[in-house]
Amino acid sequence: MKGVLLSGGTGSRLRPITHTGPKQLVPVANKPVLEYAIEDLKDAGITEIGVILGHKGRDEIQELLGDGSSYGVDITYIVQGNPLGLAHAAGCAKDFVGDDDFVMYLGDNILKSGITDLVHSFEAGDYGAGIALQEVEDPQAFGIADVDNAGNVTELIEKPDDPPTNLALIGMYVFSPIVFDAIEGIEPSWRGELEITDAIQSLLDDGQDIDSQVVHGWWKDTGRPEDILEANRLVLEDMQLNRDGQVASDATVEGRVDLDETATIEADAVVRGPVSIAEGTVIGSGTYVGPYTSIGPNSTLEGIHIENSVVIGESTIQTSGQIVDSLLGRGADIGSADEDLPRGRRLVVGENSQLKL
Ligand code: G1P
Repeated sequence: MKGVLLSGGTGSRLRPITHTGPKQLVPVANKPVLEYAIEDLKDAGITEIGVILGHKGRDEIQELLGDGSSYGVDITYIVQGNPLGLAHAAGCAKDFVGDDDFVMYLGDNILKSGITDLVHSFEAGDYGAGIALQEVEDPQAFGIADVDNAGNVTELIEKPDDPPTNLALIGMYVFSPIVFDAIEGIEPSWRGELEITDAIQSLLDDGQDIDSQVVHGWWKDTGRPEDILEANRLVLEDMQLNRDGQVASDATVEGRVDLDETATIEADAVVRGPVSIAEGTVIGSGTYVGPYTSIGPNSTLEGIHIENSVVIGESTIQTSGQIVDSLLGRGADIGSADEDLPRGRRLVVGENSQLKL
């Protein structure tokens, strides 16, 4: 079994965070989203992984993952170029996959319980494909499956107006290589994309059995800023935390706090977990870091009250006041306005940013 990890796409819903870098490298609990997928593939016994690259962030992704050896896997890079849909991305992996079965994993998705059950269930039968499903509240926004009592899929529809169920395809699939014939036979959808959902429906039409697994642990597509914050909360709840850094004797550190060995919490700072603080970061005097916050590397915080937020890293935040429910891009620099008139907030705000003042 091989792995095909999709790392293309434009990241438009995460702008301006993704203006420069790819969405799959946005950190959740101080780890790029893509690394969670690599770990899930490896845990399922898959070590030969093809990473499909789009136009954006090719260099950054290759720089992070390298040849895969630091993760104990073997990575081959495949360039998709124009994003013409998930089925097009899968089709680009045809030569890499050869005659093997493969897992296709959307690199901007995170799930709690991994893909081992999905892979085992597929391997135990004779299926053309296996899909991971989860109940959603807005089935019109997803690929949706109808399933019989035995878990066999009877119909698949991409973003239906009138969904037969609320069981969404959640971005992890197992395929036999016959899917490549199905991909060659489908036409672009109304949104101009070759839909993997349509390719699986075409396997069904050809008489193939399609396995399904309903995933019970949490799953997050990290497409929007609020999804990143939620994924951050979910991962921080579950993660193994190490408190290795330096903590001043009169700092207050409560609850589950992951503190890199090169990070520092200074006197009079308060950190209330779950919180993750990355390498080289200083939580200065008078700062409050509240629950569900990740502070990325080489950042300095002084005087701020911050909670339920993700600071990607290389940031300086030196001001009083509160920051809540926020996603701050790499290199963000937030200081105090001086007291002179005109009074008001001074902002340098990227295209399509969202601020609540
Ligand atoms: C894609 C798939 C859809 C699936 C979803 C999961 O949607 O087309 O079937 O349910 O991923 O995240 P997209 O994110 O391209 O709208």
